Amino acid sequence: MTRSITEEFIFALTNPGSEKALKLESETMGLAWRSGYQRRGFVTFKADAPYTLDSLEQPLACARRLCLSLGKSATHEEARTRIHQAMGDREAVMIHHARFFDRKMQGVSDGDWFELPRLGQLVGTVVELGPDEFWAGLHRHGQGLSPYPAGDSGMAMPADSPSRAWLKLEEATRFFGLEFNRNDIVVELGCAPGGVVLALLNRGVSVIGVDPAKMAEVVVAAGISARDDAPADRPWFYHCRKPAALTSKRDLGQGVTWFMSDMNQSPEVVLNECARFCKMAPSIRGVLITLKLTDLLQVSAKTEWLASLAAMGFKTTRLQQLSVHHKEFALLGLK
Ligand SMILES: C[S@@+](CC[C@H](N)C(=O)[O-])C[C@H]1O[C@@H](n2cnc3c(N)ncnc32)[C@H](O)[C@@H]1O
Repeated sequence: MTRSITEEFIFALTNPGSEKALKLESETMGLAWRSGYQRRGFVTFKADAPYTLDSLEQPLACARRLCLSLGKSATHEEARTRIHQAMGDREAVMIHHARFFDRKMQGVSDGDWFELPRLGQLVGTVVELGPDEFWAGLHRHGQGLSPYPAGDSGMAMPADSPSRAWLKLEEATRFFGLEFNRNDIVVELGCAPGGVVLALLNRGVSVIGVDPAKMAEVVVAAGISARDDAPADRPWFYHCRKPAALTSKRDLGQGVTWFMSDMNQSPEVVLNECARFCKMAPSIRGVLITLKLTDLLQVSAKTEWLASLAAMGFKTTRLQQLSVHHKEFALLGLK
């Protein structure tokens, strides 16, 4: 039975440069996984007991994908054969291809787009680390896991985006499977020059942006000059041009549903503001924060960050490093 697959090793795909943070995180979580073979963006682990598909259900922020390791092969074909053998004939085999290339761990699409798994589906992954090094892995797709081969959606930023933050919003939306609708109003702290705002407006979502800095023309075009002037027939942007700490309930008005922050401030400052905004706007149902760290090893404080969100009433909480991040993590809270 496919359900009883056990393996001695697992492997994780990470952002190149995050391997040490991943190992520290697994220790902090008390997983008793011992790291073994490692390359940039790729870390294997071993435990006292064999791993099963269930062992992979660990919310490791530094792992973009976790797989049971089916071993190393010299060719792509051989790695695919290992996956077919492990899965047997019971399920249609979906095999993803990830590759360390151009100093990044990236998903490789075999056509125009990746084939995306449904919840519960088994997925094989061939990880190409070099011309004759192909690792085969297997995992089960689930809630909160990226459906993309290396946890990166392969999105290209549109030419009119004023900043790379556009990618952060789009990647997080895809990784976590977030859904926004036209009734949503997002408050974003640290919104200038406006990459996130543009992505949200393009999704039909209105935004209250808080930042003393200037916004790019492309988002100013959707701007309204007073919160009370919000039109009902199109997504709008209201620039609250001041520091987060000076923003009041009056600036937010009614109906804010999401809190976002991309401020370059410490996790403590951002989480304090998050708690204050959630009090001012009890209709907030989701939080998406980019936490900026001075050192990735600060990930060991993750339980405190998740506990802060839980104390604000968020039932589902996640910390995740995305492919577009460097010394950053996405922190998600859902009510
Ligand atoms: C990385 S940029 C944000 C990029 C932006 N989210 C985008 O989509 O283009 C960080 C921003 O945080 C803002 N910032 C830093 N401290 C802030 C504070 N206390 N209140 C509001 N904005 C702040 C800065 O002015 C800066 O524009």
